[in-house]
Amino acid sequence: MSLVILAIESSCDDTSASVCVDGVVLSNVIANQSIHEAYGGVVPELASRVHQQNIVPAVQQALIKAKVSKNAVDAVAFTRGPGLLGSLLVGVSFAKAFALAKNIPIIEINHMQAHVLAHFIGERKPSFPFLCLTVSGGHTQIVLVKDYFDMKVVGQTLDDAAGEAMDKTSKILGLPYPGGPLIDKHARLGDPDKYKFPEPQITGFDFSFSGLKTSILYFIRDNVALNPNFIADNLNDICASVEKRIVTILLNKLKKAADEYGIKDIALAGGVSANTGLRQGLQAMGDKNGWNCFIPEMQYCTDNAGMIAIAGYHKYLKGEFAEQSITPLARMSF
Ligand code: KG4
Ligand code: ZN
Repeated sequence: MSLVILAIESSCDDTSASVCVDGVVLSNVIANQSIHEAYGGVVPELASRVHQQNIVPAVQQALIKAKVSKNAVDAVAFTRGPGLLGSLLVGVSFAKAFALAKNIPIIEINHMQAHVLAHFIGERKPSFPFLCLTVSGGHTQIVLVKDYFDMKVVGQTLDDAAGEAMDKTSKILGLPYPGGPLIDKHARLGDPDKYKFPEPQITGFDFSFSGLKTSILYFIRDNVALNPNFIADNLNDICASVEKRIVTILLNKLKKAADEYGIKDIALAGGVSANTGLRQGLQAMGDKNGWNCFIPEMQYCTDNAGMIAIAGYHKYLKGEFAEQSITPLARMSF
């Protein structure tokens, strides 16, 4: 008898469904929401409405791709939080209704833990304990991972997240939301050493990105005052220089934590781990320091239900199920 988990992710603006059989992720369907581009950021009310439109087709596609009947599902895993409450509510309600109709259990998953557990989807897996730099639109964390659900945040941002720094920079540059992928695209064509931005001096393993954001804002304002075409003339170099600074801030702290904990299995997770400069930078730092680096496949970097499915599989094995009375949480620690 095989163990079939259906997983739902709806914490922000992507509706995703996945099917995992015996710990193997067989489908990972992601419906993106383009509606937010025009607003320069995610509009929560619009996000939850689009989740409602997308969730049933996404689940149907995930089952079809995995060649699994809905009657074969043994449990439904879902993102409980952290995230946008209205968006989470759609996924939580769907999971509960599906499970109630089929008389099967539900499994609550913490979205940030799931980003870390995405490393257990593929063939090559990190060994416990390992360190994971989780960088997304809302979080920047260095996580000490002792076991599947035994994780400790040893460093985090005191203000903006790394993805937020990417998105806010792109907004300053007049690029549409989400800006991270566009900064990445332009950075590949620019000179990362053309402009120097400050590295914040924060103690321990914590991060800060708000000072960087302000310095970029003033840098652009001052240069545009001298040359109205400054952004258009230098877009690639600006993106390359900003990306380089964000990447060095992240990797310098990660190196500090790796040295302190004496850990050589080092992983990257979250939406910003799709960034080319960060992926290359981690690999280069890993080669220099004898680390085993783990970088997720692109589809498991940004929000996806595959990571919820693998987390759900491991929780199922522990026999940890949620009650039907469970509610989503906008904030959720672990
Ligand atoms: O994990 P995620 O998909 O959603 C959250 O849980 O927040 O992360 C989204 C973040 C956004 O800030 C987006 O701009 C950033 O990841 N991002 C990137 C890239 N792809 C996504 N940042 C830099 N380079 C990329 N290629
Ligand atoms: Zn995420």
